[in-house]
Amino acid sequence: MCKLTRRLSAITLFLSIFFQPLSGALAADFKREVIYQIITDRFFDGNSANNNPSQSAGLYDATKTNWRLYWGGDLQGIQQKMSYLAGMGVTAIWISPPVDNLNTNIPDGGGNPTASYHGYQGRDFKRIEEHFGNASNSWTDFDNLVTAAHQNGIKVIIDFAPNHTTQNNAGEFGALYDNGVFLGNYTSDPNGYYHHNPNISGGGWDDRYQTQYYTLFDLADVNQEHPTMDAYMKASAQLFQQHGADGFRIDAIKHLTWGWQYTLANSIYTYGNSFLFGEWYQGGTSDPLYHDSYKYANKSGISMLDFPLNTAIRNVFGPSNAAFSAIDTVISQEASNFTWDEDLVTFIDNHDMARFLSINNNNNRLHQAMAFILTSRGIPCIYYGTEQYLHNDTAGGTDPYNRPMMPGFSTSTTAYQLTNKLSTLRRTNTAIPYGSMSQRWINSDVYIYERKFFGNVVLVAINKNGSTGYSIGGLNTSLPAGTYADYLTGLLGGLSITVSSGSGGNNPVSTFTLPANTVSVWHFVEGAAAPQIGSIGPTLGQAGVKVTIGGKNFGSTTGTVKFGTTTATVTSWSPTQIVVNTPSVTNGNYNVTVTNSGGTVSNGIQYTVLTAKQIPVTFTVNNATPTQVGDYIFLTGNTVELGNWSTTWDGAVGPMLTPNYPNWFLNASVPAGQTIQFKFIKIAANGAVTWEAGSNHQYTVPTSGTGFVTVNWQY
Ligand code: NOJ
Ligand code: NOJ
Ligand code: CA
Repeated sequence: MCKLTRRLSAITLFLSIFFQPLSGALAADFKREVIYQIITDRFFDGNSANNNPSQSAGLYDATKTNWRLYWGGDLQGIQQKMSYLAGMGVTAIWISPPVDNLNTNIPDGGGNPTASYHGYQGRDFKRIEEHFGNASNSWTDFDNLVTAAHQNGIKVIIDFAPNHTTQNNAGEFGALYDNGVFLGNYTSDPNGYYHHNPNISGGGWDDRYQTQYYTLFDLADVNQEHPTMDAYMKASAQLFQQHGADGFRIDAIKHLTWGWQYTLANSIYTYGNSFLFGEWYQGGTSDPLYHDSYKYANKSGISMLDFPLNTAIRNVFGPSNAAFSAIDTVISQEASNFTWDEDLVTFIDNHDMARFLSINNNNNRLHQAMAFILTSRGIPCIYYGTEQYLHNDTAGGTDPYNRPMMPGFSTSTTAYQLTNKLSTLRRTNTAIPYGSMSQRWINSDVYIYERKFFGNVVLVAINKNGSTGYSIGGLNTSLPAGTYADYLTGLLGGLSITVSSGSGGNNPVSTFTLPANTVSVWHFVEGAAAPQIGSIGPTLGQAGVKVTIGGKNFGSTTGTVKFGTTTATVTSWSPTQIVVNTPSVTNGNYNVTVTNSGGTVSNGIQYTVLTAKQIPVTFTVNNATPTQVGDYIFLTGNTVELGNWSTTWDGAVGPMLTPNYPNWFLNASVPAGQTIQFKFIKIAANGAVTWEAGSNHQYTVPTSGTGFVTVNWQY
């Protein structure tokens, strides 16, 4: 590369760092973030006054020996550790559900007291838990936390669990309050606020009806199709937005009515900027509901935690020492299934599985796995304490032993520094947040992959073998010719490489030996170039919904943004981020492009324009027969929400559920106030499509609340 280009790229690099706003991009573009997951009760006790509040006295264990009681951590504690987090390169925290939780002790099978210290038993979704905030359940400590986080360039994601309230057969029997006013409980439920079905078990975990409508672990299952519950949960989410929450980690999305969640996402995005990802628990891409999971992610506006990749990461870096192909296969599979795979949230461990060091007590492997999630595709999420090598191996280290108290806050550990460096690289080189990911060299112990976003390139080489170095010959890269030092400056034993010019994006790397137990990171930032879009968020919305476009080279002078051929109204513009209003155009999928003030047009990115605000409507079609095992009834109709008359598995709405065969039903997200045309179709196991006969059904969607429509299959 000539000297001038080098100088230009150095200047561009300087400018792009200089222009990076302190608190980063809007939450709607989350790809540049590094998330840190905190179990609030187990992080830091910043205020002992809230440890044993009167309304729920006796749930605190000062000795920290009963793992199922509160141990004192709180929102003030997180706030006090903000500079520790910022110094680590954390740019977003995901905190335990902060809402007011179960007030009573429910003894376990052995008679020991337990409490909802984890936050997953909400009783009042409009107030803050007294153990985390203060005895009046006010928002003060939450507000202070958000302010401190934002001052440190850190976003706040709350864990949101609207699937259920508290345990349905003990304690408070699912009782729910609306900002202190009693709404109802599970045992006496005249309004039908809850579903009264058995616990999910056995094959039920893979059954679309049971996963959504049965009970999760005795937790009172909320009926979100009831207008009161629908409005209550949406109001709670909005309250968190008003109090500055930047995003939501939605609990148990496989178990919440799927169609309703599309309307929850729409409600949040209609109110404002946010990032949503959910917990769709699954083992891998061969899970029976894997197809449903990516259809949901592609249509709902809710991204998800990458459980298939998590399984592969634990297999590859863990004790089973699986070959790197296990990871590579998941990355390619998901790339072809997920429309926005760069939005998937990647992780090594969390509060529901043994910590990595409990399954493999090997810091080298932990560092390699961390380097992997921090540089591979997706938004990395690090479980609190990982950077302090925290683990307790009792009972294999599973829940609750994966939730010890934070042992200390050292800023000198390798894991802490590694996270900081790679977080900086994510903000410096767009190949990490936005780039494609391709394998360049692989064997069972070595994985060399390249991230590439236009001319920006990051090449990563991991050798996980503890004793054997490998000679790496025949490696090609898109890195331009030159010598590249290890970006990690040897933190994980990396080295430098020399690249010479080749053709077609395949520049040969001189043969070198990749030492045992090392990670090397090499990167290149290109000079001036056309505008490049790497992100759009949300991925769908009706006219007026604010859309954030992330990327680079947009310039500092406002240009234009087009949805297809329609120009959208720009509300803010910077070299790396643009905000526009969704234009008033016919519903459907649009290619969004940015034209800079000089007239140069970017690449395009897909966005779905919805017809109107979304309302959950439950569609029932009776007597849809005959069907064989593997055949399903789907809904299709005349708007993008209804699939625009698509007859494919991914395009139509469904599959529908049939707890009372041959009647089928499905809750779907449809446009408020619109008179929609629709029909039901059968998609047979072999893909053959059968339309019901007759004219289209017609229904006017309510302008608020929830809706129900029942018809008979037309023969
Ligand atoms: C998944 C959460 O991650 C887990 O910890 C919780 O117990 C269940 N959902 C129920 O809310
Ligand atoms: C084609 C189908 O054959 C018909 O039954 C359906 O009503 C229309 N699409 C939608 O107008
Ligand atoms: Ca406390």
